[in-house]
Amino acid sequence: MKKVLFVCLGNICRSPLAEGIFKKLTEEAGLQDKIFVDSAGTSSYHIGELPDYRACQIAEKNGIILTHRARQVRKEDFNEFDYILAADKSNLQHLQNLQSLVSHSKAQLHLIRDWEGKNLEVPDPYYGSMKDFEQSYFLLEKALKHFVEYLQKEISQKTAKR
Ligand code: 4NP
Repeated sequence: MKKVLFVCLGNICRSPLAEGIFKKLTEEAGLQDKIFVDSAGTSSYHIGELPDYRACQIAEKNGIILTHRARQVRKEDFNEFDYILAADKSNLQHLQNLQSLVSHSKAQLHLIRDWEGKNLEVPDPYYGSMKDFEQSYFLLEKALKHFVEYLQKEISQKTAKR
């Protein structure tokens, strides 16, 4: 089982969207039993809240229902998750700082768009318009298709070695 955690600032826009899109893509790839997914925020601003209505809207338009409740990243996440993927560089920096305080961290930290190129971010849509949420969806879907392909290879190599 591979465990993946998506992280943004508030855990109400980009990371719950990433979680929903990733879940759909892994189901389409038949990997749903091999992958566990969750999302979290580096801030405590929105703990317990459902995703922003604009994130829910763009997800629903694409056949995805978001039911995640916002939570903050915790130290144990670094022991539990194989991959922790951040939406932007500032959240990645926050995760790197936290990881340095954790013993036996197994998590690999990356930007969500690392499989497309170096230092590419998913910009924060919170203070923007519906267009910005559409852009977030587009960027996340593109990035996550690459990541699912990568995981698919990783999982099949592991099975072949057994
Ligand atoms: P997210 O967007 O990090 O993609 O969930 C934000 C949500 C809330 C805030 C900032 C970004 N905020 O400042 O409350």
